[in-house]
This record gives sequence, structure tokens and C-alpha cells, in this order.
Amino acid sequence: MRVKTIEWKNDQVVMLDQRLLPHKEINRVCRDYKEVAAAITQMVIRGAPAIGVAAAMGVALGALKSKAKNFDEDFDEIVSTLAKTRPTAVNLFWALERMKKVYLENRDGGVEAVKRSLKIEAQKIYKDDIAANKKIGAFGAKLLTDAKHVMTHCNAGALATAGYGTALGVMRALKESGQKFEVLVNETRPFLQGARLTAWELKKEKIAATLITDNMSGYLMQTGRVDAVVVGCDRIAANGDVANKIGTYTIAVLARRHGIPFYVAGPTSSIDLNCPTGKDIPIEQRDPKEVSHMFGRPLAPEGMNILNPAFDVTSQELISAIITEKGIIYPPYRQNIENHVRH
Ligand code: MRU
Repeated sequence: MRVKTIEWKNDQVVMLDQRLLPHKEINRVCRDYKEVAAAITQMVIRGAPAIGVAAAMGVALGALKSKAKNFDEDFDEIVSTLAKTRPTAVNLFWALERMKKVYLENRDGGVEAVKRSLKIEAQKIYKDDIAANKKIGAFGAKLLTDAKHVMTHCNAGALATAGYGTALGVMRALKESGQKFEVLVNETRPFLQGARLTAWELKKEKIAATLITDNMSGYLMQTGRVDAVVVGCDRIAANGDVANKIGTYTIAVLARRHGIPFYVAGPTSSIDLNCPTGKDIPIEQRDPKEVSHMFGRPLAPEGMNILNPAFDVTSQELISAIITEKGIIYPPYRQNIENHVRH
């Protein structure tokens, strides 16, 4: 694997600082859970499954370094600090729940036993995510056997996961199958995950790719240059509505207008059965400076009113299929998602 997004090393959490890509490949070393929480908030690491893995490692690190007399209180503080980092990707809360479960199951064995089990669980979440992505890749590639031009939005690659990626995992699997195709990479304003991260990752992987600005996607679809769209997801509601990077909804509407299949790839840890519809998904509002400035320079007049929702919701009727590590979910989503998760 060529991209190392995050790893547990010598009882520290090491992450590739994604804010510096594509120009610099520099690791950030987190020595305590507060540093992990700050890294998630500041987008050193981002992407739903990667945030989940980072949060799990943050809990394990926090527990390991805890010297508190009251370990239970410390544990609650660690979990609640990490839970406040980013609101939309459900993988964060899913990972924290998994860590809490391990804590409760091992509590009677004493603090050292709890610390050991939390460390093991965090590594398991990491490894499971890579395994899930490879399965997503294999299932997704089967849907794209005729596709020559596949569009993606944001970065749902190795950088957004423990490794391999979801939407980009599908591209990796397609390449491994020997298919000739290119990826159309939307730049993904305002944070430029497409231009900075997806472009970097695909280049490293030697997968043919073309970068476009977000507002070119309709033109390319209209002129017959897009065969399919594959995106990742931050949260899938019980009815199949999907929250993903801002701009995803626009592409889904355009894809439907032009009869192009629109696929969502994500692990089952991105499914939130407690969230009935997309309206119930909290949408993160980020710093207006991400819109008004680029690389520290202002683009707009000072004092301009600015909006910066980081995600949008694509309604389920626009989604052709959802690809998970367990297989492919087709409509009707409400019943099929529930069956998929429970079996
Ligand atoms: O704000 P980000 O960069 O964390 O948003 C990431 C996305 O929207 C991804 O598409 C999503 O998390 C899926 S990652 C496999």
C-alpha cells in the first residue's frame, strides 16, 4: 500500500498531514488524545472511516496515557472530547461506541486490562476498515465493467480510510481487473479534497485521471463523457438518503438528468439506522474563511456574508445502488438497508 494515512506506532498515533498535500508529505505525531481530537477538527485527517479509526486510536491513546485516580471519569472525558470533533460522519460515533463497549466489557478486569483491550480494539477497527474497503472495491468494480469515464467527488480514497478507500477502492479494484478507464476528479471546492488529495492519490497509484472544476461536471455529462459516478459517504440514513461532501447532491441531480448511474460506496459503519432520513443528519458548518480565502489570500471583499456547509444530502431516489463490504444494496432502500445491516 502506497499511502499510509494513519498508524499506531510506539504508542503514538501517526497521521499523514493531509492539509499539506500534494506538496509536502509530512507526518503529524499525536502523543495524547487531545492532539488526536485537534487533528480531526483541523482536518489533518479527514474522511468518514479515517475519522472513525483516528477516534478509536485516540481513545486507546487517551486510556493508555491516563494516570487519573478515577479512570472512569477520565474515560468519559476522552470519549466526549473526541465526540465533539466533527458532527456529520457517523463513523466517528460508531467507533466511539465500539470502544465504549470494549471498556464496559473489560472494566471488571482492572484498568490495565481495559487499556490493553482498547488498544487491541483500535487496531482491529483499523484492520477491519482496510478489509471492508477491499470488499467494497471488488463489489463496486462489477458494476462498472463497461465504464470508461468514472466521475468522483471529494476524496474517498486511502487517505479517507485506514487504506485502499471506498469510492477510490472501486477504482483500485477496476485497475487491478485490467480495465482501461479514467477517473474524472471534481476539484471539490472549498477545501479542494479532489484537486489536492484524490488527484495526488490517483497519480501515485498510476490510475488515469483528469481534474475538472466542480462546475464542469454538467457539461461533461451533457456531452457524453461520463459513464458512471461513484462517491463515498459520511452517513447513510435508514431510508437511503446519503450525506456526503458538499456538491454531491448537485452531481446526483445532474447524473439523473442524463441517465448516468450514481453509486455510493461506503462501509456498513457509515449506515445509521437511528437516523430515519437525511433531514436528521447534522450538517457541519465550517469556517467562512475556507470560502472567502484560498491558501491564506482573500478572494472576496472583506465583510462579505458567507455560507460554508461542509456536506449535503442526496435523496435516496437519486442513488442507483449503495456498495458496502457485504454487497450491493438496491432500492427500495428502507427495507433493503435494514436487512443488509442485520444479516
Ligand atoms: O470533510 P471531509 O474531507 O472529511 O469529507 C469527506 C467526504 O465527504 C468523503 O466523501 C466521505 O467521508 C467518504 S470517505 C471514504
